[in-house]
Amino acid sequence: MRSSPAANPGVHTRFLDAAAVRALVQRIGLPACIAGVAGQIEAHFRRWPEFDKSARIACHHPLGVAELMPVADGEHFAFKYVNGHPGNTAAGLPTVMAFGALAEMATGTPRLLAEMSLLTAIRTAAMSALAARLLARPGSRTMALVGNGAQAEFQALAFRDLLGPGLGITTLRLFDVDPAATAKLCRNLAGAGLALQVCASTAEALQGADIVTTVTADKRRATIVTPEMLAPGMHLNAVGGDCPGKTELHPEVLRAASVFVEYEPQSRIEGDLQQMPADFPVTEFWRVLDGSAPGRRDQTEITVFDSVGFALEDHAALVWLQAQAQQLGLGTPIELVAAPADPKDLFGTLHGAAAPALAA
Ligand SMILES: NC(=O)c1ccc[n+]([C@@H]2O[C@H](COP(=O)([O-])OP(=O)(O)OC[C@H]3O[C@@H](n4cnc5c(N)ncnc54)[C@H](O)[C@@H]3O)[C@@H](O)[C@H]2O)c1
Repeated sequence: MRSSPAANPGVHTRFLDAAAVRALVQRIGLPACIAGVAGQIEAHFRRWPEFDKSARIACHHPLGVAELMPVADGEHFAFKYVNGHPGNTAAGLPTVMAFGALAEMATGTPRLLAEMSLLTAIRTAAMSALAARLLARPGSRTMALVGNGAQAEFQALAFRDLLGPGLGITTLRLFDVDPAATAKLCRNLAGAGLALQVCASTAEALQGADIVTTVTADKRRATIVTPEMLAPGMHLNAVGGDCPGKTELHPEVLRAASVFVEYEPQSRIEGDLQQMPADFPVTEFWRVLDGSAPGRRDQTEITVFDSVGFALEDHAALVWLQAQAQQLGLGTPIELVAAPADPKDLFGTLHGAAAPALAA
């Protein structure tokens, strides 16, 4: 670590850039990372009342959104910065880019600063599969995966591995308006033990699907899934409708289903739910997890997880990342904040080799 002579040795922040997070995921293995983050998310959701929660802060632009996602428990404050710009890929940039930080609540000391684009894909997939484990029909084997961009492979692996012992998706029915995206997914998942069926439309992809994951990016009121595509007992994992004016499900799809959300105040603004009246009934997922609300009621019910991404999932992902990085000795300690050895002498830190110029 490069530190100033007057720096306080107790104030170190572990910094993981994209290369460090990539190295960590490669060392642990992606499926184990998704499972590890899922476990941490589940543990966090089981402690739901202990978190200080709020809907994320979103700043909108005609081409996308920039968001800040804060949340805290007694131990850690976490935030993530994330954007969503569906037009970015045409300019050679990712649709979603993220980084975040974890700080100690007792002292406010920032302890972790990390890239989170990869971690966002991992935690989103983990959250989706966690919800499906409780909401999808047991024995679900076939998933339609509509939208085959950056998030898609992570979703596929989470649904292969996390639906329960001996359970899991074995067949993917794929559709993307960009055939190159689907071809990329097929290359990436060639050795994953999943049967990959490329389809010509969303309607075709949904035929015979037990689970439907929509993970498209388009900055408009899209209706990717319409009511005539539904079949009894389907579970829909709607990931890409996550911003005002950006949806994936036809309103009648929501009406036909029992709808589950992460954090209702945020989902009413951002989810596919934004299309529904304020009194449209939804269930927060944590209640299903703790048994205070029912999940799926029978084999024919249609369920929707209207995912938008909640700060609690990122808090969990950062707590998991911190522990793994510490164990593997990854990341670089940096002097992120000015913290003098004499905490009252911030001014004195300006005395380096030369005294600071004080003349007005
Ligand atoms: N809910 C969450 O927690 C969460 C987390 C991360 C990303 N997201 C959202 O997930 C979506 C996908 O993210 P990404 O990083 O994979 O984006 P991406 O741009 O890499 O991929 C999106 C894909 O959707 C395809 N697509 C667009 N319109 C389509 C349509 N009508 N039918 C079929 N395919 C279509 C595009 O061709 C593209 O390949 C984004 O909308 C993003 O905001 C949500």
